[in-house]
Amino acid sequence: MPRPFRMSGLTLLLAALAGASVAHAAEDADTKAARTEAQMTHAERMRLLLGVMPVAALPTQVEIPPDTPAMAGYVAGVPRLGVPAQWATDAGLGVTNPNQGRPGDVATAMPSGLALASAFDPDLAQRLGATVAQEARAKGFNILLGGGVNLTLDPRNGRNFEYLGEDPWLAGVLAGHAIRGTQGEGVASTIKHFALNAQETLRLYADAVMDEAALREGELLAFQLGIEIGQPASVMCAYNLVNGHKACGNDHLLNTVLKRDWGYKGWVMSDWGAVTDAGFINAGLDQQAGSQLDRQAWFGAPLQQLIDAGKVAPDRVSDAVRRILRSLYAVGIDTAYAPQPIDYAANARVALEAARAGIVLLKNDGALPLAASALEGKRVLVVGGSADFGVLAGGGSSQVTPSNGAPRVVGGRADDIMGMFTRQVFLPSSPLAALRAALPKAQISFQSGYSPEVGAAHAAKADLVLVFANKWEGEGQDSGSLALPQGQDALIAQLAAANPNTVVVLQTGNPITMPWLADVRAVVQAWYPGQEGGQAVADVLVGQVNPSGRLPMSFPHDLAQTPRGALPGLGLPPRTPVQVPYPEGSDAGYRWFARTGQAPLFAFGHGLGYTAFSHSQPWARQGDAVELGVSVRNDGARAGADVPQAYLVARNGQQLQRLVGFRKLTLEPGQQQQVSLRVDPRLLADYSAGGWTVPAGRYTFAFGKSASALGPTVELTLPAMRLKP
Ligand code: BGC
Repeated sequence: MPRPFRMSGLTLLLAALAGASVAHAAEDADTKAARTEAQMTHAERMRLLLGVMPVAALPTQVEIPPDTPAMAGYVAGVPRLGVPAQWATDAGLGVTNPNQGRPGDVATAMPSGLALASAFDPDLAQRLGATVAQEARAKGFNILLGGGVNLTLDPRNGRNFEYLGEDPWLAGVLAGHAIRGTQGEGVASTIKHFALNAQETLRLYADAVMDEAALREGELLAFQLGIEIGQPASVMCAYNLVNGHKACGNDHLLNTVLKRDWGYKGWVMSDWGAVTDAGFINAGLDQQAGSQLDRQAWFGAPLQQLIDAGKVAPDRVSDAVRRILRSLYAVGIDTAYAPQPIDYAANARVALEAARAGIVLLKNDGALPLAASALEGKRVLVVGGSADFGVLAGGGSSQVTPSNGAPRVVGGRADDIMGMFTRQVFLPSSPLAALRAALPKAQISFQSGYSPEVGAAHAAKADLVLVFANKWEGEGQDSGSLALPQGQDALIAQLAAANPNTVVVLQTGNPITMPWLADVRAVVQAWYPGQEGGQAVADVLVGQVNPSGRLPMSFPHDLAQTPRGALPGLGLPPRTPVQVPYPEGSDAGYRWFARTGQAPLFAFGHGLGYTAFSHSQPWARQGDAVELGVSVRNDGARAGADVPQAYLVARNGQQLQRLVGFRKLTLEPGQQQQVSLRVDPRLLADYSAGGWTVPAGRYTFAFGKSASALGPTVELTLPAMRLKP
């Protein structure tokens, strides 16, 4: 077993400083930050504004102590004032080990963001955020670069798997809880990538064009909710441009929206390589992170030149420093911490629970669950997807080196820092092995699927065919289409033609098209399910787990149903500026389908299970907030979890659709429970003239099993309301 990586220097330093922080225990973070900042020299202030990525491949101008391990981000501290160095790691899906720069260091590889979103469970998000943070802290990190909340605006975005789907309420609430979980462990969190980082193609040159109302009601609302709930220490600004200005130098986004309108007190750090000018500090950027990935260490000498020339006020530098310090103090990363051993077995159980909760049963004609008794002596053929070895993970900076064994790596150079963007990693959790354990009396064989004809010949002789189909997605690239790659559509079609008893399991980071859908009996969406994913998939297939995941994004029939047929910039040379228009405004995803009267392949919120729930007696009332309620009953024979979803469906007779609440609840057979939800008034409002307006009139709500499966409506008459931005 590899020796667990341990930080010693910082731990000792923190222990020594514990006495100092006790002396000012009653002081709030802002006062303490102001006091510390006032004691700093100019050079010490400047030190806090410049971050680097300490990996062997990238030389740096910043002096790094020799025992500093490889990690995503490092910022020097000010030991004489008890300000710790910032040690930042990615992130939301587990603690990463970039380029294996810490040889042998592993971490629990959690399910992807989309799997977490599919669970529709804020408590689970919080526990996941806490679990990853515990590992981060035990390894010496005090900042987790988590909180990815960019909404799905394009189903081809290569990073959608890291995020939380297309709806601002769902994504914002889940991100906020994940951040709360992380920071509750004394680890600072970011929320990222602010904002509209909705495609990877030409991500440094893509200019997202969206009007103010659409921004505030959509993507920005997800960030606003995440910030209100989670109070993240830092906001990471994005690579792209927003309405003509780089996100990290965007005065409107950073100074006006974030710091003025929302009163955000923390600091803005750049994404790694997103800064093109030292003057970004005047637009609200507080810290340049990963500066070797930029053309210059802008927040070093170039910033000093601007200060000397009177173009950056010394006060702005002090404000940036105070923002960093107050956040570090608020989270408590300057307090002593005795390193705890990591209980990887316990954390794997959290990963398993999350993977189970995130699997979405898209179609089932009764083929599932597989009954062990019915399959005794029967021939089960498992095909494709490397299911004999494990489950797929998404690529890029979020890629985790799993704690449960060596992964299988396809492509991507191991010695190249950019390799993490091209390597396909399979985590060692074999669905085939888990199925064999769950169905010991079935004759289970495996075919790679490399040759559809060979697969079909075996399928014809089997009693049941389980096809595993994968689509790898990753940071730095988008999909050109929604099709499964590498002939897998043809493979599924040939297997289904050879054997009508065919079930499909998908591991994808986005919606896909399913030309074979009518010819297969069931479809299971497992996303990228993390290092316990093989077990979780088998548990759902055999009914050991009753699936309860719901889609956090709409599955279109094809790209023609989406606002952008062509992906802006696809195929253009590097560094080509490109505009990305968002004609849908804040009506992305299911709202777009409702507005255009189209039916998707699978709707947002859709997900089947092995029991049946009914919703009855919906009600709506207004007290100090709008409240909605419904009675939920488990009418089936198995315990299971339901996710009743409340939608606003009309205002003064004008149709629209917005998710205004959801609740995950587990019910025994025959059990009935009342659900009540408080509605955030911003979900009822339009953003206009510098604030939110809830128009007076009749509001129509419906509870649904998805955005397309709505129950009876209830109405409420509301007075006009005006809310601050
Ligand atoms: C990603 C960020 C990540 C950072 C540090 C960038 O490529 O966009 O999400 O936190 O790298 O690894």
